[in-house]
Amino acid sequence: MTIESFMGFHAPRVAENIIFLDKIGSTNTYAKDLIKNGASAGTAIIAASQTAGRGRLGKSWDGDGENIYISTILEPNVREGSIAAQLTLMAGVCVANVLERLLVSTPHKALIKWPNDIVAGRRKICGILTEGVMDAVIIGIGVNVGRKSFPSELADKGTSLYMLTGREHDRAEIIKTILSEVSAYYRRFDMQGIGSFIDEYKALCLNIGKKVTIHENDASYEAMCVGVSDGGELYVELPGGERRMLNSGEVSVKGIYESDL
Ligand code: BTN
Repeated sequence: MTIESFMGFHAPRVAENIIFLDKIGSTNTYAKDLIKNGASAGTAIIAASQTAGRGRLGKSWDGDGENIYISTILEPNVREGSIAAQLTLMAGVCVANVLERLLVSTPHKALIKWPNDIVAGRRKICGILTEGVMDAVIIGIGVNVGRKSFPSELADKGTSLYMLTGREHDRAEIIKTILSEVSAYYRRFDMQGIGSFIDEYKALCLNIGKKVTIHENDASYEAMCVGVSDGGELYVELPGGERRMLNSGEVSVKGIYESDL
């Protein structure tokens, strides 16, 4: 994958201009610095390799292998509610759709573990980190594409397109498809808000109807996931019958991956 792979490519408001980097610490951090220096919305940063990738909840994102590392800078018109959290869910639907098409000849489906991990074959294939900076929102997407293996602590949690399909994939083509999908969804989101995609999100969310362990601050508790609200929150029911609505960001939900079972 080189800058030439993206010649002539353009996705309205999501990849109007492209910055291609052979190697970078984190595309999201790079995007943050660009925003502080006045970068315009619609800039997409694409890296061929990433050495200090960041994940949600302060975790790191391992950059081993020929995978996808992209960040795009958006400046949404809608301002109600938590726009960054909603765009995270939207990006999850977009990536799940693209991966689903690539997995069509396999027994696996691309589904979403709330809020925004894409899971296939009960293992994580994509992570999304959305960050608000001034009036802009950065959507960072990492997809395991060419990765052949994982270190032992991640071996039963992570997967890649290569591992699921047994063949190599053209990263640049997948990136262009993802950015075009995000552009199409973002156009509708900016006019109609979360209602433009939330039903699709609910249909892809694999937590619903499953027992989960919620880790909140230092405490953790068991609950049954009973649904996703129209605003994108996770509805859970505690053993005593109490219902809670969780916002993305404040919890991590376990109990989905093979290793958790
Ligand atoms: C997670 O699952 O916790 C989110 C992982 C997000 C990783 C992507 S890779 C491209 C972008 N740059 C980063 O530093 N992180 C995101």
